Amino acid sequence: MNTQKKMHPLPIRLMHWTNAIAMIIMIMSGWKIYNDEVIFGFLHFPDAITLGPWAQHGLQWHFFGMWVLALNGLAYLAYGVISGRFRRLLLPISPREVIREALAALTFKLQHADLTHYNAVQKTLYVGVILVIILQVISGLAIWKPVQFSFLVSLFGDFQGARIVHFFGMTAICLFMVVHIALALLVPRTILAMLTGGPRVDVRPADAPVSINSPNM
Ligand code: HEM
Repeated sequence: MNTQKKMHPLPIRLMHWTNAIAMIIMIMSGWKIYNDEVIFGFLHFPDAITLGPWAQHGLQWHFFGMWVLALNGLAYLAYGVISGRFRRLLLPISPREVIREALAALTFKLQHADLTHYNAVQKTLYVGVILVIILQVISGLAIWKPVQFSFLVSLFGDFQGARIVHFFGMTAICLFMVVHIALALLVPRTILAMLTGGPRVDVRPADAPVSINSPNM
């Protein structure tokens, strides 16, 4: 039997915005910690965009954000798998479609009229950032407890290797956020949908959504 639910059910909206706030806390406090022991001599983050007056405060904020991000992220992954959302909205990704739609996006021809489906570029960005966040948690654990998690440290070569991976993971997430927020602002209806739930979709047993009030139907 078909059931109907909003494009972004309440748990997804709560988890998305919780993740966004936790991620901003993680990035700004991470910059404060980085400044205390820089990797690249030429790179210091201005105090105005870091969190906490001293590195120790930055560390406290980072640990707070870490628990929120990890628990929220685990709940999101479990929800995505169990509800079939990942299978329905984020997978599969066709490389040919990614190339075609990336070219269309670069020439401002990519359409996002039907909010109930993600295009191949969005799918790639979302799956990509989810994987990078998982990598951040693993490299973060390696830096946090290098003795207890020495097997994780060895995945990155050594402690410094884990730090460098953690740094470039942060850079990738920042780049994702710039593109993600710019795309969302280009189609403000998507932001409204992430706040209110968006159009109702008909979820069939096979998990293929059928939009019942999208402009494309
Ligand atoms: C703070 C500003 C942010 C805004 C305004 C924003 C906005 C949005 C919007 C509007 C959507 C739905 C897209 C659509 O329907 O076409 C979305 C989905 C998504 N966003 Fe964000 N976002 C923000 C931050 C983040 C951050 C920090 C991350 C992760 C690092 C993130 C990861 C995602 C993911 C993975 C999805 C897909 C979720 C799903 O459908 O299960 N967002 N975001």
